[in-house]
Amino acid sequence: MSVMQAKLVLLGDMGAGKSSLVLRFVKGQFFDYQESTIGAAFLTQCVAVNDATVKFEIWDTAGQERYHSLAPMYYRGAAAAIIVYDISSQSSFARAKSWVKELQRQGNASLVMALAGNKADLSAEKREVEASEAEAYAEENGLFFMETSAKTAANVNDLFYEIARKLPRT
Ligand code: GTP
Ligand code: MG
Repeated sequence: MSVMQAKLVLLGDMGAGKSSLVLRFVKGQFFDYQESTIGAAFLTQCVAVNDATVKFEIWDTAGQERYHSLAPMYYRGAAAAIIVYDISSQSSFARAKSWVKELQRQGNASLVMALAGNKADLSAEKREVEASEAEAYAEENGLFFMETSAKTAANVNDLFYEIARKLPRT
């Protein structure tokens, strides 16, 4: 069985839930008081797709604006990117769009990009971004889109699995 390594980067506003998604995917854990990331964190996890194993080398970046200038170090050479926003924050969705623009300009041409609307477990009154709005945006920009919840684990494995499936086979 072949093993393929793939560098994956998570980008998005601070507090959108990047670290929580990674922690859920890699360790099956979730913390209500997840600490804000400083610089970036590195984790790995494998996913089996058909007859191959994809080993994700995951860079979980810090969303705080002061770390923005470091981001190219992490997305350069990446095979995949997950742009995360919080469904209860329009401003985090705006930030996600600006990451998409930056990656379209500077990222790898064959980059597989996913848009994750996280915190989908929150109540309807807290929602500021409709799934239909994000879906339309994703379609226009050639990304694939899923709403996720690091808290309940909804769609988290599916998100990474879908990325693994979309990676060009080498
Ligand atoms: P930075 O590292 O500062 O860029 O933030 P981040 O994007 O890594 O966010 P983080 O994972 O630290 O999550 C921020 C807060 O949101 C934490 O208090 C988490 O518990 C909470 N959170 C993350 N994901 C979810 C989710 O799916 N649902 C809910 N309800 N809360 C979540
Ligand atoms: Mg973080």
